[in-house]
Amino acid sequence: MDVFEVINTTRAMRRLKPDPVPDELVWKVLDAAIRAPSGGNRQPWNFIVVPDEAAKKKIAEWYLEAWNASYGPARDAMAANPDSARMFGSADHLANHLAEVPVLIIAAIRGGDTGTSPAGSYVYPAVQNLMLAARALGLGTTLTTLHRAHESDVKELLGIPENVQTLALIPLGWPKGKFGMGVRRPVEEVTYWEKWGETQTR
Ligand SMILES: Cc1cc2nc3c(=O)[nH]c(=O)nc-3n(C[C@H](O)[C@H](O)[C@H](O)COP(=O)(O)O)c2cc1C
Repeated sequence: MDVFEVINTTRAMRRLKPDPVPDELVWKVLDAAIRAPSGGNRQPWNFIVVPDEAAKKKIAEWYLEAWNASYGPARDAMAANPDSARMFGSADHLANHLAEVPVLIIAAIRGGDTGTSPAGSYVYPAVQNLMLAARALGLGTTLTTLHRAHESDVKELLGIPENVQTLALIPLGWPKGKFGMGVRRPVEEVTYWEKWGETQTR
């Protein structure tokens, strides 16, 4: 696939089939992940692949609890608002079906912020690479962070050491729906030339 088509059609795919994803493809997306840049090329990332049903079920329970705590009170308003209804519906679906996703991948960092580099800057470029590679293979992903509400539980379950932070949980699977472009503000609106606030037409 053309790289721009991959970028433009990589979006949150939260409705995933339970069909298995071959390990070979899991390795392939991880191979793409570790090509990412990191401060000082330290590569302080680790990835934990979780295909085990019992572990996924536990993580899914914690994720759903965090989802309900974060978005439960706004449920009716979000579902009724045309701007958020679609996203809300798909996020709600994922929260209620996470255990059925064939593979969960957790992206972690050994340590945290260093100097001028926040922890996320070390790991999220790799996560984006992973998601782009998955898209190119026809696999759906979403960058999620809600599991962090239960991070110590997740870490204990998976034997993750104290000094490691889990920065993203990425469900990986074959999408039920079609890939398409996400809704984004136009680039001309979010880009300034020379000075803050000075937009440019093209
Ligand atoms: C840092 C970060 C955290 C996110 N956390 C969650 C999450 O916990 N659950 C979820 O369903 N989506 C999560 N998302 C996905 C966003 O909701 C999604 O990327 C955004 O709505 C755009 O979706 P689209 O690409 O389908 O248009 C997260 C995205 C980012 C970048």
